Amino acid sequence: MDSPSRVRSAARSDIPVLSRLLTQLYAFELPGLLRGDPAAQAEFVRRLVLWGPLDGRFVLVRGDEVVATGAVATIDAPRPPTASGALLSLPSLMGAANAVKSLVGVARGLLIVASPPAADEAQIHSVVVDDRARGQGAGAEMMAHLEHTATAAGKRRAVLQVVSSNAGARAFYANLGYTEGGPTHGRLRSAVGFRSVLMHKDLAPTG
Ligand SMILES: CC(C)(COP(=O)(O)OP(=O)(O)OC[C@H]1O[C@@H](n2cnc3c(N)ncnc32)[C@H](O)[C@@H]1OP(=O)(O)O)[C@@H](O)C(=O)NCCC(=O)NCCS
Repeated sequence: MDSPSRVRSAARSDIPVLSRLLTQLYAFELPGLLRGDPAAQAEFVRRLVLWGPLDGRFVLVRGDEVVATGAVATIDAPRPPTASGALLSLPSLMGAANAVKSLVGVARGLLIVASPPAADEAQIHSVVVDDRARGQGAGAEMMAHLEHTATAAGKRRAVLQVVSSNAGARAFYANLGYTEGGPTHGRLRSAVGFRSVLMHKDLAPTG
């Protein structure tokens, strides 16, 4: 595929494709996080995206197709909160028992992302490439854009978190110069949340 690609801020009109990409991310990184039938899960993710702000979120477009998304948060522009309206709609979407299991999964997911970035850091999150477009450079291009956004905002370090079992993403980030380590979660978060590793990279200031 050699169509040129560009990255732009996500718009409300991207919600259907963002929902599809983020459903892929949850299924890939945290299988079993959401319960119930796939249509109900997809509808829940659509509501999460629909009812939340799109601040700091970008999409990568190739030809006229969105093939990747990613987001960056800083202390001045923090990660948007999880849309509580979407959480409240879980029982009607997937039934009480599945809703409770999904809520437990969502809470465990939130525990591992709850720390805000430090003043000189940018937190990169929710990076996913459409499964039909992986291995063609879109992920690296999205990361370059997110890092550029961070340096343009005066940040010196990019930080991110990966679920420990996601060996592919860990290798992808390591290939881009990210190092595993850094401050760990408190004991409670580590015990209850999904096991994750922190990765970081020092960013070259823009000239
Ligand atoms: C991880 C992900 C974003 C990578 O995007 P991608 O477009 O497939 O990656 P790219 O084609 O840009 O690859 C860039 C480099 O990383 C390497 N890489 C990518 N995926 C890799 C993997 N699974 N294992 C090892 N290396 C990998 C590539 O070989 C390439 O190396 P090169 O520059 O030396 O050729 C994508 O596979 C994805 O969406 N995965 C599912 C969701 C996910 O896990 N997101 C991360 C959440 S923290």
